[in-house]
Amino acid sequence: MLTVRAASWYVVCSIVLLTVVFALAAAGGGTDRAREHGVRHIAFDTTPVRGEPRALELDRAGFTYSCMECHRDLKVPADRANLEAEHCTIVFRHGTDMSCQVCHYPDNRDAYVDRECRQIPSTNSVELCAKCHNIEYRDWKANIHGRVNGYWDPARGPQTRLLCVQCHDPHAPAFQPMQPLPPPRKTRTPSSKKRPPHE
Ligand code: HEC
Ligand code: HEC
Ligand code: HEC
Ligand code: HEC
Repeated sequence: MLTVRAASWYVVCSIVLLTVVFALAAAGGGTDRAREHGVRHIAFDTTPVRGEPRALELDRAGFTYSCMECHRDLKVPADRANLEAEHCTIVFRHGTDMSCQVCHYPDNRDAYVDRECRQIPSTNSVELCAKCHNIEYRDWKANIHGRVNGYWDPARGPQTRLLCVQCHDPHAPAFQPMQPLPPPRKTRTPSSKKRPPHE
C-alpha cells in the first residue's frame, strides 16, 4: 500500500517538475538559442531608451519634491541664462533660444503650458510636445513614429504606445546614436553548400 502511494507521489512530482522545465524552456528558449548564435543581448532588450515615464518632480539628497514646494514662494528670473543654483545641471539643447516657460507653466510648475496659455497636466507630456511637433504627433498617433507594443488588433488584447519622453529627453531631445547590431548569420543547409557560388 505504502509503495503504491510513494510511486504515485513520484509521478505527481515528476509531472510538476517537467511542467516547470517546459515552461522555462518556452519562455527563454528562443532567446537562449539566438544568444548561442552570437546575437547580443541588446537585440532582445525592449526597454525604451529613457525607461518608464518620469514624474515631474525633483530628487534631492534622497527626498522627492514637487515643483511647487519651492516655486510657490520662490520668485526666480524668467531667464534661463540665470540658472545658477537648483537646476544648473540641466543640459539644454532644444531649438534655439527657447525659454523654460514655453513648456513649464509659469505660475504652476507642476504643469506644462499649451498654446493658449492653459495648463497641461504633467501626466500628459505628449500634448506638450504636440503643440510644436504636429507632424511627428500625427505620425505617432498613426503608429508610424515611435513604437507600439502589444496586439495589432485592439479587440484581442492591449496595445501600449511609448510616450515621446520615453525616447527623447525633453531638454536635449536629439535621439542618441545606437550601436548597430550584427547582420543575421547565414544559414547553412546541406543543399546550400552544394550550390555553385553566386556570381
Ligand atoms: C528645491 C527647490 C526647487 C524645486 C523643488 C524646484 N525648483 Fe525650479 N528653481 C529653483 C531655484 C532656486 C531656481 C532659480 C534658478 C536657479 O538658480 O537654478 C529655479 C528656477 C527654475 C526655472 C527657471 C526660471 C523660470 O522661472 O523659468 C524653471 C523653469 C524651474 N525652476 C522649473 C522647475 C520645475 C519644473 C520643477 C519641478 C520638477 C522645479 N523647478 C522644482 C528651485 C527649485
Ligand atoms: C520642450 C519643453 C521643455 C522645456 C523648454 C523645458 N522643460 Fe523642463 N521638463 C520638460 C518635461 C516634459 C519634463 C518631464 C521629465 C522628463 O520626462 O524627463 C521636464 C522636467 C523638468 C524638471 C524635473 C526633472 C529634472 O530634470 O530635474 C526640471 C527641474 C525642469 N524640467 C526644469 C527646466 C528648466 C530650468 C528649463 C529651462 C532651462 C526647462 N525645464 C525647459 C519639458 C521642458
Ligand atoms: C515651444 C515649442 C516646442 C515644444 C513644446 C517642443 N519642441 Fe521639440 N523642438 C522645437 C524646435 C524649435 C526644435 C528645433 C527645430 C526642429 O528641429 O524642428 C525642436 C527640435 C526637436 C527635436 C529634434 C532635435 C534634434 O536635434 O534633432 C526633437 C526630437 C524634439 N524637438 C522633441 C520634442 C519633444 C519630445 C517634446 C515634448 C517633450 C518637444 N520637442 C517639445 C520646439 C519645441
Ligand atoms: C520609440 C522611440 C520614439 C518615440 C516614442 C518618439 N520618437 Fe521621435 N524620434 C525617434 C527616432 C529614432 C528619431 C530619428 C532620429 C534620427 O533620425 O536621428 C526621432 C525623431 C524625432 C524628431 C526629429 C525629426 C526630424 O525630422 O529631424 C522629432 C521632432 C521627434 N522625433 C518628435 C517626437 C514626438 C513629438 C514624439 C511623441 C508624439 C516622438 N518623437 C516619439 C524615436 C522616437
